[in-house]
Amino acid sequence: MKSTRGQQTGDSFAAILLAAGLGTRMRSARAKVLHELAGAPMIARPLSAIAASGADPIVVVVGYQADLVREAAAAALPGRRLEFALQPELRGTGDSARIGMTALAPDYRGDVLIAYGDMPMLSPASLVKFAADHRRNDAVLSFISVIVKDGGAYGRVVRDADGNVCAIVEARDASAAERAIPEVNTGVYLARAEFLRAALADLKCDNAQREFYLTDIVAIARGRGLKVRACLASDPSEFAGVNSRQELASMEAQIRNQVNDRLMASGVTLVDPASVYISDQAEIAADVTIGPNVQILGRCRIGEGTLIEGTAYLSDVEVGPRCHLKIGVRAEECRIGEESEIGPFANLRAGTDLEGHNRIGNFVETKKAKIGRGTKASHLSYLGDATIGRDTNIGCGVITVNYDGYDKHQTQIGDRCMIGCDTQLVAPIKVGSDVYVASGTTIIREVNDGALVMSHHPQREKPGWIESWRARHGDASGGKSGDR
Ligand code: UD1
Ligand code: CA
Repeated sequence: MKSTRGQQTGDSFAAILLAAGLGTRMRSARAKVLHELAGAPMIARPLSAIAASGADPIVVVVGYQADLVREAAAAALPGRRLEFALQPELRGTGDSARIGMTALAPDYRGDVLIAYGDMPMLSPASLVKFAADHRRNDAVLSFISVIVKDGGAYGRVVRDADGNVCAIVEARDASAAERAIPEVNTGVYLARAEFLRAALADLKCDNAQREFYLTDIVAIARGRGLKVRACLASDPSEFAGVNSRQELASMEAQIRNQVNDRLMASGVTLVDPASVYISDQAEIAADVTIGPNVQILGRCRIGEGTLIEGTAYLSDVEVGPRCHLKIGVRAEECRIGEESEIGPFANLRAGTDLEGHNRIGNFVETKKAKIGRGTKASHLSYLGDATIGRDTNIGCGVITVNYDGYDKHQTQIGDRCMIGCDTQLVAPIKVGSDVYVASGTTIIREVNDGALVMSHHPQREKPGWIESWRARHGDASGGKSGDR
């Protein structure tokens, strides 16, 4: 198996993504790379960028919450093969990279890209450009640096009098003079595999954190007279690492702005961009209007001309063109066909499938409900585990009685039915096409096509009853008014 992994082909490079750490500064029981950013675990973003840059194979080093991180990484790139390496003890980025190397073929001789799992803004284009720069300069080791106003916790890039890179010094180990250096290490490296193997084996942990620093490979390369290159990138924000919840929130805002800007540039109206949260996987067509306070999460697709008034939560929903989502729609894992009108205050749960030209009105809840074209449920209904045909009208207060306390049962309703108000359909049940159900009916047996069905109790009337009732309560005045 191993020999097939990581054979060098042309200009390709292998990649190792370091994601074993806990992320102490997050103050969380959850691994840092699992914290959500723009609707997905943080690790999904650098991993996708690395995959898109053409890296192959890709190794992810896991450690803290290894199983969950593995799962999140695999989910980020469905169908793509990933190699995983386990760092049993969190002994630093250098140790992590060394363990990552063991997942490559022992005879792999190409370049290896190393990046950190906490760099969500990384772009494939920058990685491709970086790889080209590394090769053009025939460097043994390259890394991306940026100039920042305040270097904070980043490693500082120390250069000699001729401007050649000598070392990366971690902020905690830096002298005051070194801390004043504005050029910092982003944590994206490319190195030849043979050099990496040797350098990683030589790392020491004689530093402030008693860790093996990956950054020390720079000084090791210089010490051996090898060519090291710091490739200065112009936009520091692309290489920012997330180390705290504050940084996570500000990056969330940054991504959100990028997504909003892209959508507006493509013809989507955002009435108040500051109050909409749209996943970057969402596909939204031109001339969609999105009002305030809207979340569009996961892989939503919204068709052209649709209006989302506001205060909506949509997760993995497909909305056809020219729909109108009134205020207060909550929908997940469902399809809303073209020219449908939903809400106000509707709850479309997973498995709802509206064929088109539907109306689902206020206080209607649907779940695993396949609803045919033109069918309406305008007020106060629960439609669960149901298949309903076309052009049927579901009256106010209709309920599918789908749950018997142990199992869920199916309701089937045909085309062109009038299901009267306050009808209960006790499932499993089937109502044919062109059926008229009188209001207040409890349907417990199959109804045939074309029938009228009712379960009314005969209406009885006792003339003058109210007077004797009041008398029984010693009330001669003729009524209780405001004194109760
Ligand atoms: C690191 C760099 C620093 C650089 C900065 C850029 C080192 C020593 N320092 O610092 O020069 O400016 O990133 O953001 O590399 N990890 C493991 N195993 C470990 C420790 C960490 O896999 O034992 C992983 C973490 O999951 C994380 C990544 O390595 O994804 C970086 O670790 P982190 O602790 O965030 O490094 P920084 O202190 O930010
Ligand atoms: Ca970091």
